Amino acid sequence: MKFSTNKSMIFATIATSALAAPFIYDNNSTTELASSLSQEVLGWTHATFPAIYQTCNETNTRMLNAAFKDTAEVTAYAKNRLLDYGIDDAHYKRWFGNGSIFTVMGVFDQLMEASKGGMLMRCDDADGLCAANPNYYAGYHRESASAETVICDYFYSSRKPLSTICFEGTIVDVGPTHYAGIDMLHRYLHLPTMNMDEYIGEYAETLEEVIDYAQNNATFAVKNVDNYLYYVADVYSTSVIPGGCLGEL
Ligand SMILES: *[C@@H]1O[C@H](CO)[C@@H](O)[C@H](O)[C@H]1NC(C)=O
Ligand SMILES: *[C@@H]1O[C@H](CO)[C@@H](O)[C@H](O)[C@H]1NC(C)=O
Ligand SMILES: *[C@@H]1O[C@H](CO)[C@@H](O)[C@H](O)[C@H]1NC(C)=O
Ligand SMILES: *[C@@H]1O[C@H](CO)[C@@H](O)[C@H](O)[C@H]1NC(C)=O
Ligand SMILES: *[C@@H]1O[C@H](CO)[C@@H](O)[C@H](O)[C@H]1NC(C)=O
Repeated sequence: MKFSTNKSMIFATIATSALAAPFIYDNNSTTELASSLSQEVLGWTHATFPAIYQTCNETNTRMLNAAFKDTAEVTAYAKNRLLDYGIDDAHYKRWFGNGSIFTVMGVFDQLMEASKGGMLMRCDDADGLCAANPNYYAGYHRESASAETVICDYFYSSRKPLSTICFEGTIVDVGPTHYAGIDMLHRYLHLPTMNMDEYIGEYAETLEEVIDYAQNNATFAVKNVDNYLYYVADVYSTSVIPGGCLGEL
């Protein structure tokens, strides 16, 4: 399906996508797992999704699927913005400076359409880090199983749907990972298969550093996770709310 900025079309598409069947993980699963979802997702014709392990109950699964869908939506807006406005766009310059648009475009394609075979989200606190960091860790990447991500209970209460963007404060106030779909994007990027063995990494995380990369070190702006998170939040909020809600930089 071709991406369109026509809002009624977008909402009609989302409303009709089949989300009923949870993705149950099995060892022989392929990236075609979520085919009923991937065919329909806004802006991506070959979107792939992580598997959800059986330790996630129905409620967890529904919320994770909603987050995956938000990730697809927010990245579709971002990719469309790159295609429509290119490198002269104020949003692009703000977060990526004169960094390579080929890199940025490729990262979104990789995140959304590359094979996610073996990539697993689980809801048991396998390594105990949720319990050790209550009301702080929303999830973690497992050092001992590089394709696996644990989602902590704190994720479900702290991370919000994209539909709430701009409601609880500016992006600068709440941070991009306030939104479940953007937090999920950051979790994808912890996986070696998604970050290309740390070609993309968490080189700098404060807003000041992120902006400094865009202005003075664009080679690293396009390799830094948080530059992507701010970019997608900024583009999305401006796309759906007149004037957006970036806040004071
Ligand atoms: C996958 O299969 C292996 C061996 O058959 C088993 O040890 C492992 O627990 C399985 N993994 C999952 C997530 O079911
Ligand atoms: C996976 O496939 C193998 C061989 O095709 C089969 O023996 C095995 O039972 C399958 N495992 C699962 C969990 O479906
Ligand atoms: C980006 O701008 C900086 C500073 O103006 C310059 O040194 C660098 O060569 C530029 N990089 C590219 C890829 O154009
Ligand atoms: C699912 O698990 C969560 C904890 O992750 C729990 O709070 C919730 O009550 C469970 N829901 C159902 C329907 O069992
Ligand atoms: C850009 O950032 C990287 C990683 O923080 C650092 O190693 C490098 O020296 C920086 N380059 C410049 C020109 O500041």
